[in-house]
Amino acid sequence: MRVVHTVDDLRSALPALPGRTLVPTMGNLHTGHLALVERARQTGGPVVASVFVNRLQFGPNEDFDRYPRTLQRDAEQLEGAGCDLLFAPDEAQMYPRPQTWRVLPDPALAGVLDGAARPGHFEGVATVVLKLFQLVQPACAVFGKKDYQQLLLVRDMVRQFALPIDIIGLDTVRDIDGLALSSRNAYLDPVQRAHAPQLQAALRRLADAASCCADPSLLAERERDEMQAMVAQGWVPDYLSVRRRADLQPPRAEDLGARGRLVVLGAARLGGTRLIDNVEC
Ligand code: PAF
Repeated sequence: MRVVHTVDDLRSALPALPGRTLVPTMGNLHTGHLALVERARQTGGPVVASVFVNRLQFGPNEDFDRYPRTLQRDAEQLEGAGCDLLFAPDEAQMYPRPQTWRVLPDPALAGVLDGAARPGHFEGVATVVLKLFQLVQPACAVFGKKDYQQLLLVRDMVRQFALPIDIIGLDTVRDIDGLALSSRNAYLDPVQRAHAPQLQAALRRLADAASCCADPSLLAERERDEMQAMVAQGWVPDYLSVRRRADLQPPRAEDLGARGRLVVLGAARLGGTRLIDNVEC
């Protein structure tokens, strides 16, 4: 696997990698990322991964400074997973001048859930993803479904800007006890780690409720109950919410009961760590 750190080196490496698939990451790779690489390999084309901790998508009081940077280990794992090229730019390469031009995502999709809890987050994500697409010019790109809202936004951006890129979403990889793999799990102490699967358990209960409830207001009540139960367990939830998969809006009566239309999404803090997860139903 070749590793490049500059845009010039990236551009000279790309002609040898036609029909490539991009796996964009912020590094500190775990099995979930390696599953994205494996899925990228299944497209049959070469695989390009990027590792870049994107300042633009972090709020002023978020974990940009302490986000784990483990490039050497990431490169070894990517090589072992069969990646062909790693693009690992520094900030001066990605943002040689302040990135004053930004991608402003549709507020209907970016202003709810994580977008409401983290103002500006999806603008930062969309801006760096568009820039990575522009730099790498992939035929496909693979994103994890753990960041469900991000995946929907990227798909929508690609559609609206008519980018010739096939976006592939991959199911969340979980630990044996159900916790979604995330680089941020490393922040949890052993007691918090033992409690962390409670988030997924709450989402699963809401998914069960959504499959047998015909009344949106009763479902909203169940959401409030689950939020309170999480608070009682020591969490600070941002949201636990049943939404339509297509547009992340709350379901109407006709959306309830039918399988395949809904997703339950949640974000909550345990100590200083914010975890997100979702369950399709
Ligand atoms: O999902 C992530 O790791 C990041 O949001 C991404 C897509 C690499 C953009 O920085």
